[in-house]
Amino acid sequence: MALLPILTIPDNRLKVKAKPVANVDGRVAALMDDMLETMYRAPGIGLAAPQVGVHERIIVVDLSEPGQARKAPLLMANPRLILSSDEQSTYEEGCLSVPEVYAEVSRPAQVKVRYVDRGGEERELEADGLLATCIQHEIEHLDGVLFIDHLSALKRNMIVRKLSKLKRAG
Ligand code: NI
Repeated sequence: MALLPILTIPDNRLKVKAKPVANVDGRVAALMDDMLETMYRAPGIGLAAPQVGVHERIIVVDLSEPGQARKAPLLMANPRLILSSDEQSTYEEGCLSVPEVYAEVSRPAQVKVRYVDRGGEERELEADGLLATCIQHEIEHLDGVLFIDHLSALKRNMIVRKLSKLKRAG
């Protein structure tokens, strides 16, 4: 397995729409494994392929706390929401591509997602709570959308400016 470099804003590759995966083969499974390793190391609870510069519809999620034994990763190709509740929930979100920034975002509280797993099987999963939020956050990455796009333009521009400055300084 290999650790992959994680892109951070304002990298324009984060805004590119990802293409569907035609076939979950060994190459895709290996990419999923590398993404998972990269996410654990960061550490984070979700990672989408565009965040490592790969524009394919692949996400990985594992909600267990960093440092815990992490046993139940979700590895998804072509994830899509087939149901979203009217009820909303609000969580403070962060993102490995938007370092050190956290903000509250409201999203549907319950979702049902259809995806292809690491073994090539089509599956459905019902999620609520933080898992529902995390899956929606990661799926949005596949369409070039970041959680800060849910914030006001004023707030978002402030964040982008701050991180651009930090990047130049680093
Ligand atoms: Ni993110």
